[in-house]
Amino acid sequence: MKIGVYPGSFDPITNGHLDIIERGSKICEKLIVAVLDNQSKSALFTVEERVGMIEETVKGMDNVEIDYFSGLLIDYAKEKNADAIIKGLRAVSDFEYEFQMALMNKKLSEEVETLFLMTSNKHSYLSSSIIKEVAHFGGCIEGLVPEVVKQRILNKLQKSEKQ
Ligand code: PNS
Repeated sequence: MKIGVYPGSFDPITNGHLDIIERGSKICEKLIVAVLDNQSKSALFTVEERVGMIEETVKGMDNVEIDYFSGLLIDYAKEKNADAIIKGLRAVSDFEYEFQMALMNKKLSEEVETLFLMTSNKHSYLSSSIIKEVAHFGGCIEGLVPEVVKQRILNKLQKSEKQ
């Protein structure tokens, strides 16, 4: 496949996301990791910070590009001439919503496929929110996020506690 778009909030990127990026980049000539710029969602990190952390994490993966988008994902995917939207599926609980989004995106454009990669077993319980919660209450997040991200989460939480 030529171009794949891997969309998400990535607030922040986890090792589960990284796994999908690594595997997705092997099946696409170019993989675009697209961060949703959603002002209404209360995020820990700004879009710029999220993009920056992904860039640092995927350094050296030559066919991976990082970008951000707002509005409809399908419009963004078409603008980028994507062949497919790549998504990670963790568990049955993800399936219903992902299925609904895939069908809606297919309804909006026949040309773009949605491709699901099953998350590796060891990452299936990871999500950005649960990692932020564990870190917030002082739990260990070693090995759950890239090292650079771990430090940023801890710094961010320290700052917000001081305020
Ligand atoms: O990491 P997330 O928060 O699960 O990612 C969700 C995302 C960004 C893939 C989804 O919210 C999305 O596609 N948003 C863009 C708006 C859109 O196209 N909505 C209609 C989906 S059918």
